[in-house]
Order: sequence, then C-alpha cells, then structure tokens
Amino acid sequence: MAEKILFANFKGGTGKTTNACMISLRLAELGNKTLLIDLDPQANATGMLLLTKQRNTGEITKFNSTLMTALDDGNLESIITSIKQNLDIIPTFVDFAGYPYYLMDKFEDERDRVYYLKTLIDKIEDKYDYIIFDVPPTISIFTDSAVVACDAVTIVLQTQEHSFLGSQMFIEYLQKLVNKYSFEIDILGILPVLLKNTSKVDQAVLENAKEEFGEVNFFENVVKNMERIKRYSMQGVPDMTNRNDYDMHDVKVYDMYKHVTDEFLERLNRIEGEQ
Ligand SMILES: Nc1ncnc2c1ncn2[C@@H]1O[C@H](COP(=O)(O)OP(=O)(O)OP(=O)(O)O)[C@@H](O)[C@H]1O
Ligand SMILES: [Mg+2]
Repeated sequence: MAEKILFANFKGGTGKTTNACMISLRLAELGNKTLLIDLDPQANATGMLLLTKQRNTGEITKFNSTLMTALDDGNLESIITSIKQNLDIIPTFVDFAGYPYYLMDKFEDERDRVYYLKTLIDKIEDKYDYIIFDVPPTISIFTDSAVVACDAVTIVLQTQEHSFLGSQMFIEYLQKLVNKYSFEIDILGILPVLLKNTSKVDQAVLENAKEEFGEVNFFENVVKNMERIKRYSMQGVPDMTNRNDYDMHDVKVYDMYKHVTDEFLERLNRIEGEQ
C-alpha cells in the first residue's frame, strides 16, 4: 500500500504545488515509486511536471483521454502518465472543473461523492510507494476527495498572516471532515515557506505560528525564497544528471529539497512508528 500525502492550505499561492512537485521528484530520484495526482483544475502541477519531462527528454506527451473521462470510466489507469523513472502523474485538464457537477449527477449521497475518487485510487495504489496530492486552495469537493483518500497532510505555511489563517482554517476544516466521515488522518507537519529570507515580519509570523500549532509540528527545514524556483513552473525542473542543464542556483534549490525530502521521510516514519 502506498503512503498518501496531501499538500494543503486554504490560502492560495503558498507553494503547495511547487513543494508537492519538488518533493515528488526527489522521492522518485531516491528510488521510490511515486505518483502525483493533480486535483486542481488550474493544472499547475501537471504543467510543471510535463515541462520537466519535456526539458529532460525532449518528449512531448500526447493524451487520448482526460482525467474526467478516466473518472467516468471508473479507471484511473488509462490516464497515468510517466514523467521520469519512478515518477508518474495523474494529470488534470480544464474539464475537471466540472467534477463537482458530475458527482452531483452521479450520486445522491454526499459521502458517495466525496469517496468516489478514493475507491478508484484504492485500485491503483499497490503500484506505488508514495502518492502525493495537489489540490486547490478552496473548501471544495476537490479538497474533500483528497482528504478522505490520504493518510497524512503537509500544511504549507508561507510566512504571512493570511497563510497562517489559511492553515488554521484548514486544520479546523480537517477536524470537521474527520467528525463527519470518521476516518483517520495525520498531520505530517507544517512546512514553512519564507516570503523573504531575512524579514523580521516573516520571523514573527513563524514564531506566532509555532506558538499556536506547537513547535514539534514544524519542519525544521524551511523552504527559502529562491528566484530560481519561480522559473520551474514555466521551464520545468532541470535534470541534475545532465551537467549542461543546470547552474549553481539550481544546485542550491536541489540541495534544499534533498534536506526537506529527508525530513519528510523521517516524519512519515515517525507517524508509522506511532501507529
Ligand atoms: N521557495 C520559493 N521561492 C520563490 N518562489 C516560489 C517558491 N515556492 C513557490 N514559489 C512561486 O510562488 C508562486 C506560487 O507557488 P505555487 O503555485 O506552488 O503555490 P500554490 O499554493 O500551489 O498556489 P495555488 O493556491 O494557486 O494552487 C509560483 O509562482 C511559484 O513559482
Ligand atoms: Mg497550486
């Protein structure tokens, strides 16, 4: 069975997609069979990983179906797309925006709607060590479907007040869902993403958040603000085995995500040990 982890915050633009993609790439590089499921109709993770594939291999990916058609067929297998060795994606397309309406037509019962995706993931999860979910920053059936299908959540907290509130809201909402549907889910940790690397305001927001959520719940590694990362959503992530494709700025990002992913795995092991 795969470990299934969601990256979340109800504030937009905190780095959910970037971190989900960068950690997925590193998990795959470490030899773990990894699947990223893009449940955001904005398709940012799909874009970033397809660009990465194109950058690394020159291959353009053609699709014969969409996530919506796969969902309608009740079989996600047909849409699974390889990005690189050990890393696959379930990509999304604009028609996925219609998923809530599709579910309303298909199921009377709200629980059946929310659990439909999980029933399909149950059929494919044996092929993977890790399944990573990316969702929109909204209270929606997209997020609910991912939450009930996951084992753990990583909250991505950017060091600004709105992101802090978005994290609080997410945790409260999680509790409501757990009460409503009675399932188990862990908080893997809160991953801080710095808005500015040296700002006092950022530090103050972080300290405030640590007091609120408890320091042990925070990743020790922080994701620094790095200009280079911004390029990856438009140009893909370089292949670090191809010396012609990266420079020292890429190496810095790469090293940072090595450490973040190590801690991600340590935290997962800890949660498993507690069960
Ligand atoms: N560590 C970082 N340093 C600099 N820029 C970053 C960093 N992480 C993310 N970004 C940039 O911030 C923007 C938002 O990031 P991203 O799309 O990952 O956030 P998100 O939480 O998934 O957004 P949404 O809520 O819209 O889904 C992107 O342009 C991304 O390139
Ligand atoms: Mg996103």
